[in-house]
Amino acid sequence: MHTLAGKRILLIVAGGIAAYKCLELIRRLRERGARVRCILTAAGAAFVTPLSLEALSEQEVHTDLFTLGRESEMGHIQLSRDADLLVVAPATADIIARMAAGIANDLATTAVLATDKPVLAAPAMNVRMWEHPATQANLATLRARGLATVGPDEGEMACGEWGYGRMAEPTAILAAIEAQLAPAGRLAGLRALVTSGPTREPIDPVRYISNHSSGRQGHAIAAALARHGAATTLVAGPTALPDPPGVQVVAIETAVEMLAACEAALPVDVAVCAAAVGDWRVVQASPQKMKKDPSGPPSLRLAENPDILATLARAGDRRPRLVVGFAAETTCVVEHAEAKRVRKGCDWIVANDVSPATGTFGGASNTVHLISAAGGIEAWPQMSKQAVAERLAGRIADALAPGSTAVAS
Ligand code: C5P
Repeated sequence: MHTLAGKRILLIVAGGIAAYKCLELIRRLRERGARVRCILTAAGAAFVTPLSLEALSEQEVHTDLFTLGRESEMGHIQLSRDADLLVVAPATADIIARMAAGIANDLATTAVLATDKPVLAAPAMNVRMWEHPATQANLATLRARGLATVGPDEGEMACGEWGYGRMAEPTAILAAIEAQLAPAGRLAGLRALVTSGPTREPIDPVRYISNHSSGRQGHAIAAALARHGAATTLVAGPTALPDPPGVQVVAIETAVEMLAACEAALPVDVAVCAAAVGDWRVVQASPQKMKKDPSGPPSLRLAENPDILATLARAGDRRPRLVVGFAAETTCVVEHAEAKRVRKGCDWIVANDVSPATGTFGGASNTVHLISAAGGIEAWPQMSKQAVAERLAGRIADALAPGSTAVAS
């Protein structure tokens, strides 16, 4: 439970309706042994009081007005230096913009600019502000400089609109904090690429061909690899899942986009292809919505999609050291999966039985076999997709971590 014992968090509470969730976050951080100091911006103070932050953190709360009057510039710097991690929650569009521009016009932004510690932001804002190119460009700038983010989630906003912009729940922020502060894992210094979710192949601007993949298994694998310390890129089709903490997520829709995003993420040490990539795309998607025709329904001409797993496995000198595929089968699971492993040229294949009775598709658990090029076949008991992910990440660490010799054993 004391996963954060002795860790020092500087929590910057900016001005958004989600600021109230920080109270719960502070409680949970302290339950896990962390010391929490808070900076409350002037706008943040319109949503939560210094007194409530102080009562929960049992530390003096630093507000713009109070500290600017009392502390020297050095004091501000000290505040951020005396922390293991800075957490900006809620990170409003305004504070994100100021952070991106390097503006230091209040205590919060001064602390962020002055720090040499990692910074995690939990964005929260109206969906239109979130989607605005200015906000996205600011975030891209900050991420390129190393900012980690968690959320936002999709849902109903305080303003009544629906979409992305709700601050991640305290439990998700906590998991992201734990991931940031976890001791260097066995995959530290290595790079991982994971594909996840379905692809969507457009027929016209409103219709598409897709499948039932939930993305749960692939997202869990990306999260587990990141927890083990790998710098992880997740190339994900459309899913309802939040971005896993500590993972660089690239959102795509089509198989062709997924392949381009994967190739852009190379070189990596390990690639795990867990996405349910559509086998076909419509050769010429209609630029306008197709109308019903009295002469009958249209025929769609389909073209084969690229095989991302096979492409990565045959990428020559850019081939990841370890390439892992998935095989969803309904009969002769192991035999068919091994044949697929050979056909695709990957090192390992995780075979799962997706016959309807198993409830694997969209469900929470999975029953798999891990098959390796060296002929090893491991039958894993039924377990949650998280547990499959954790075990697979452990096997990957065994194979790739410094000191290990074999990849496909
Ligand atoms: O051929 P099948 O779809 O059964 O193969 C499954 C494996 O291949 C999965 O690892 C999946 O992510 C990957 N795949 C791919 N690109 C495709 C089709 C499948 O990466 N176009």
